[in-house]
Amino acid sequence: MLSKTRIAVLVSGGGTNLQALIDAQKRGDIKSGEIVLVIANSSRAYALERAKNAGIPAAVITKKNTGGTQETFEAAMIKALDEAGADLIILAGFLSILTENFTRRYPKRIINIHPALIPSFCGKGYYGLYVHEAALKYGVKVTGATVHYVNEVPDGGEIIAQKAVDVLPGDTPETLQRRVMEQAEWILLPRAAETVSERIMREKANLTGGKND
Ligand code: GAR
Repeated sequence: MLSKTRIAVLVSGGGTNLQALIDAQKRGDIKSGEIVLVIANSSRAYALERAKNAGIPAAVITKKNTGGTQETFEAAMIKALDEAGADLIILAGFLSILTENFTRRYPKRIINIHPALIPSFCGKGYYGLYVHEAALKYGVKVTGATVHYVNEVPDGGEIIAQKAVDVLPGDTPETLQRRVMEQAEWILLPRAAETVSERIMREKANLTGGKND
C-alpha cells in the first residue's frame, strides 16, 4: 500500500470549497490523499465548524496571535504544517497572500482555487466577490474558475485546470459567485486535489523505494 498524501487545507471564510473536498473524500473521489489539518486565518471562519463536524483537526493561526508580522504568521503556519507532516497544501478560499519565503518551501505542493479564468480578474485585490464584481463590470459573457499551483506571483503559478461558466443577464456578484462555485469550483478543486495527491503519493513511494507504509 502506498501511503496517502497528507493534505492541509487553508481557509479564511465560509469554507464551501473545504466542504467539497471533505465530501469528495467521503465519497472516495479523493482516494490518494487525506485531509489531516485545516488552518484558518480567522477565528470567525465558518470553515472551522465544517472541519469540526468532519472530525478534522483545525488550528486558528492569525497574524495578530503570532507576533503581528507576515514573517511570524508564516513561520507559525510552517510549524503547524511540519507537525502535521503535510505533503500538499490546498488554498480553499484562503485570502492572505503568501510570500516567497513560504511558497518556495513547497514547490508544486501548494494549489489554489481562483474564481475566474486566469489571466482574467486575478492578482492582488482580486478575491471573493470582488472578482465577480470586476467580471460583471467588464461585461464578459463567460467566466469560470481556475486551479493552479502557487508560487511567489499572486495567481501566477502553472495552471492545472479551468472550467468556463456562463454569465447570465441580470447576474449580481452574488448570483454569479454561486454559479461559478456550483458549476466549476466544487467540481474542479476535488478533482485537482486527487490528481496532485496521486502524483505526490507516487513521488513519496519512489523516494522510499516503494516501501512507504
Ligand atoms: C471562493 O469563491 C474561492 O474561489 C475564492 O474565495 C471563495 C471562498 O469561498 N478565492 C479567492 O478569491 C482567492 N483569490 P469558500 O470559503 O466558501 O470556499
